[in-house]
Amino acid sequence: MFITLEGSEGAGKSTLIKSLKKYFLETNLDFVFTKEPGGTKEGEELRKILLDKNIELDPLSETFLLLADRIEHVRKIINPALESNKNVLSDRYLDSTYAYQGAGRKIKKDELDKLIKPLKFPEPDLTIYLDLPVEEGLKRAKGRDRLDRFETEEIDFFERIRDSYLKLAEENPYRIFTIDSANGESEVFKLAKDCIEKKLNGS
Ligand code: TYD
Repeated sequence: MFITLEGSEGAGKSTLIKSLKKYFLETNLDFVFTKEPGGTKEGEELRKILLDKNIELDPLSETFLLLADRIEHVRKIINPALESNKNVLSDRYLDSTYAYQGAGRKIKKDELDKLIKPLKFPEPDLTIYLDLPVEEGLKRAKGRDRLDRFETEEIDFFERIRDSYLKLAEENPYRIFTIDSANGESEVFKLAKDCIEKKLNGS
């Protein structure tokens, strides 16, 4: 089973992942927790460039770096795990590219499709999207450490990203399960865990 987790800044992905890791460690399920960008050793180097706010990147260069990271990630981590029947949970994946580079950086969807489709990345079986109003998410994110190259963007950028995620969720109701982050940590965890278990049980 291939599960991805999506959300914009400050939506609570890291907290949710911590709880899911702890929970699934206690069950006998074989779960691989991973992330983008930077899920591999090679990807960690690409991530440094992508998040460095002193580096200016053209949106297309940014996209190519993210896709290079994904190629490494899929070939070295995701595909081998899925082939040996493990469950994979990736913190961000394909939808991030359509939301951030598509809506955020304004690269047209058909241009992104032309770059992405030939790469034949595996489709997630389930995507959990944590939704939160932009202002609130940014407030949470800004309370953390130094801001990275994405977090220093204007509010409009994040509004476009949230709209894009909501649209993706509407267009893919069987794959994307939306959770309102305003529910609070324990309720978000319960909703996500129940949804994952239901999927694992084949319903
Ligand atoms: P990270 O520190 O992992 O942030 P978060 O906790 O928000 O996941 O930084 C990853 C950043 O990379 C995040 O701001 C979103 C961005 N990103 C894209 O723009 N496109 C992508 O395809 C992916 C995978 C990530």
